[in-house]
Amino acid sequence: GSPGHFTRLEPEPPKMNPVVEPLSWMLGTWLSDPPGVGTFPTLQPFQYLEEVHISHVGQPMLNFSFNSFHPDTHKPMHRECGFIRLKPDTNKVAFISAQNTGIVEVEEGEVNGHELCISSHSVSRISFAKEPHVEQITRKFRLNSEGKLEQTVSMATTTQPMTQHLHITYKKV
Ligand code: HEM
Repeated sequence: GSPGHFTRLEPEPPKMNPVVEPLSWMLGTWLSDPPGVGTFPTLQPFQYLEEVHISHVGQPMLNFSFNSFHPDTHKPMHRECGFIRLKPDTNKVAFISAQNTGIVEVEEGEVNGHELCISSHSVSRISFAKEPHVEQITRKFRLNSEGKLEQTVSMATTTQPMTQHLHITYKKV
């Protein structure tokens, strides 16, 4: 259009790029069901709600956002967003995430069927993220037999070895 004339720029609905087909089971809007469970040796176990949006715009990558909320007050908690890239003609995946806690990280791994296993390749510690700093992150996503998405996150910090931090199941909305 002409200058000053506003139109939506995102193609809608976009045609899926065949490169991302192996990850198409992750696409959609997902809500925690039941609430997620957080654990770590240094923490009291906690629960959380999370809304996930995984989409594409026809590019050979997915866009994601994970936004978590307090289970009682619905106060926003951890948030992260980024991209999931597939190396064309392989099952190699790169997961790139910026988190509201000051962490910026890249994880790498593989998709096999309805399961994606990734682990951190680089975690930025130059930000003023609060201590203890995260040294390593691993995640597993899978689509279970009930059609629900599951995410498990483990981490190692400067004070603790690799231990599970999160487990959550999401229902498609
Ligand atoms: C604490 C990392 C996602 C909730 C922590 C700590 C770290 C961390 C390093 C401090 C542990 C300690 O003190 O020993 C991460 C990473 C995440 C992630 C790397 C994602 C990859 C989440 C999510 C929630 C969450 C989705 C959901 C609400 C909490 C809570 C605490 C905590 C409640 C304890 C209180 C606090 O330190 O704020 N996390 N976290 N985290 N995390 Fe996470």
